[in-house]
Amino acid sequence: MGSRKTNLRLIEDSKYTKNTLSDVESKIDVAYSIRRLKPYEVVESRGSEQVLRGDKAFKLDWNESTISPSPKALNAIQSFVSGNGGLNWYPSLGSRSLADSLSEYTQLPAENILVTAGSDAALQLICDTYLDTNDEVVIPVPTYNHFLVFAQSRGVRLISIQPNDPFYADFDLLESTLSNRTRLVYLVSPNNPTGTLFTEEQIETLCTNYPSTLFVVDEAYFEFAQVTSINLVTRFRNLLVTRTFSKAFGLAGLRIGYLAAHESLITGLSKIYNPKSVSTLSQIGAEAALSDMPYLNAYLDEVSRSKTLLLGYFRGIGIDAFSTPANFIVVRLPQIEDTLSKLSAQSIYIRNRSNYPGLAECARMSVGTVSQTEELIEQLNRIF
Ligand SMILES: Cc1ncc(COP(=O)(O)O)c(C=O)c1O
Repeated sequence: MGSRKTNLRLIEDSKYTKNTLSDVESKIDVAYSIRRLKPYEVVESRGSEQVLRGDKAFKLDWNESTISPSPKALNAIQSFVSGNGGLNWYPSLGSRSLADSLSEYTQLPAENILVTAGSDAALQLICDTYLDTNDEVVIPVPTYNHFLVFAQSRGVRLISIQPNDPFYADFDLLESTLSNRTRLVYLVSPNNPTGTLFTEEQIETLCTNYPSTLFVVDEAYFEFAQVTSINLVTRFRNLLVTRTFSKAFGLAGLRIGYLAAHESLITGLSKIYNPKSVSTLSQIGAEAALSDMPYLNAYLDEVSRSKTLLLGYFRGIGIDAFSTPANFIVVRLPQIEDTLSKLSAQSIYIRNRSNYPGLAECARMSVGTVSQTEELIEQLNRIF
C-alpha cells in the first residue's frame, strides 16, 4: 500500500516537471478580494515560555487572564481525557449543551446563541456571511485590528472614524458618519485598547435609526465592565453581539467564544457555520467554567482592586495612566521604545500601541491579581 501511494505521487509530480516551481506558483493567485491584503503580521506573545519553565515573568501583553481557569474547568477536561474515551469522535454538533448553559448565563433563548472557536471565529463568520465586495463598513479607531482583516478579505470599503479624544466614545461623530449605504458597523465595547463603552441605549438608538445596517458589538471584555447590549438581540434583526471565554474565564488557549443574535441572523449564519468547529475539550471546559461563578467573580474583584493600585502607582510617579472598565490600562511612556526594552529586560511584557491613531507613546498592559500587581510594582520601582 505504501509503495502504491509513492507511485501515485510520482505520477502526479511528473505533470509539473516541464514547469519550474515558480511558474507553477505564479499561476495560483489568492482570491481577488484578498489580493491587496498584506500577510497577517504575527506578533509574538511574550513571556509564556518563561512562565511555563517556572521563571518569573509578567505576561501582560495580550489582555489574557493572569491566572488559571476555574479548577472546575480543569477537572472536567482532565476527567474527560482520562475517562472512557470520546476523543475519537467529533464534538457535540453545534455545542448544544454549552449553548443551553450560555442561555442561562445570558438569559437569552438558546436559539439566539451560536458557539464558535473563539470570538474571532464569530467575527469572521459574520463577515463571510454578511459582507460583499464594496460594502461600506464603518469602524471607530483605534480598536481591535484583527476585525479589519476579516472585513477587508471580503473586499469591503472601510471607513474608519477617529474621535479627537481616543478615550471618548464619540456617538455623535459615529452617527454623523452613518447612512443607509452603511452595511456594517463594528463597535468594541469596552474598546480594546481605550476602554470606551457604548451604552445599551446608544446601541438601541443605532439599531432603530439604521434598520438596514448591521451592528456588531464586540463584548470580549463584558465580564469586567458589566455593560451589555445583549438583551436587545431578540428585538432587533440588525444586531450581533460577540463574546469570548478567552479573557475573564481564562480559556484563551481553548479558543472558544460565542455570538448572540436574532434568529433571522442566526439562520443566515447557519448557511456556512461549521457545527463541528468547536473542539470537545473546549466545550467541556467552557461549560464547567460557566458553572463556577464564584471563581469568576473573585477574579473580577481582584482585577478591579488591582487596577486601582496600578493606576495609583503610575500616576504617583508622574506617568499618564488611563483607566478602562476592562482588564487592561493604557500608559503613556516617555521614550517608549527605550522604556519597553528596559521592561522586557526585567521580563515585564506589555504591548506597544504608540502607532495606533491618537495613542502616541502609549502602551497597553493587562491587569492581574492584587498580589501579582504588588510584585509588578516592586519590579517597576527598579526601572522608573
Ligand atoms: C476586542 C477583542 N475581540 C476579540 C478578541 C479575540 O478573542 P478570541 O480569543 O475569543 O478570539 C480580542 C482579543 O484580544 C479582543 O480584544
